[in-house]
Amino acid sequence: MSTPLATGNRALNHVVTQFFGNVARAYDTAALQQVVYRPPQNQVVAELRSAGSRRIADIGCGTGILTSRIERELHPEIVYGIDASPGMLAQAKARSATVQWRHAAAEHLPLADGELDAVVSTSAFHFFDHPAALREFQRVLVPGGITAIATMHPSAPTARPIQRLTRSPLFPAHAPSPRETRKLLQDAGFEVLDQRKIDRPLPSWLIPDVITIGRRT
Ligand SMILES: C[S@@+](CC[C@H](N)C(=O)[O-])C[C@H]1O[C@@H](n2cnc3c(N)ncnc32)[C@H](O)[C@@H]1O
Repeated sequence: MSTPLATGNRALNHVVTQFFGNVARAYDTAALQQVVYRPPQNQVVAELRSAGSRRIADIGCGTGILTSRIERELHPEIVYGIDASPGMLAQAKARSATVQWRHAAAEHLPLADGELDAVVSTSAFHFFDHPAALREFQRVLVPGGITAIATMHPSAPTARPIQRLTRSPLFPAHAPSPRETRKLLQDAGFEVLDQRKIDRPLPSWLIPDVITIGRRT
């Protein structure tokens, strides 16, 4: 199923999705996954397990590594993998025939109100229109449902190269600080339950990401 991909005021969104379409094949390289993408996914899986979530969506699912892992390890009733890049989704679809893959933007989720227990997102939130996406996360969750968002926060003084990249006009992303992220969640109607650095085998200045957990009030 496909929905319109208009994403509010993120005019450069198509650049992001085209970029990921082009790199989709290289994206699954084992070393890249192990060092960069797997650590936040491990934490999201642990959060979902402890919350006992049964109906889950992974937003900005990319090639579907986390989504299919959720299916395999947690056996939910239903899991959606949603991404705006057809190239990334094509790789994802090859991973599982039972995950519900959807080509859609985080800001316009093709899901019903209160349909889910959990909405998660790893390494993608910095590309979203944050208030619009969080409004959607809130809408599709049941009261008490959780969101777990792991994203880059290049605010440490040592993270200069990453700051330069993410502040360049050529980089169509804005990575909010941890504090801004808490405020964004609260403004969207979430109670922030926890926020912590992602544990990984690299110094945190190199990949300065944080996971924030919110509960829909
Ligand atoms: C770095 S990848 C992360 C993929 C995956 N979550 C992971 O942990 O490996 C970022 C993904 O976000 C997707 N994306 C970017 N902006 C989006 C938006 N507004 N709505 C949905 N997906 C988006 C891109 O197409 C890309 O697949």
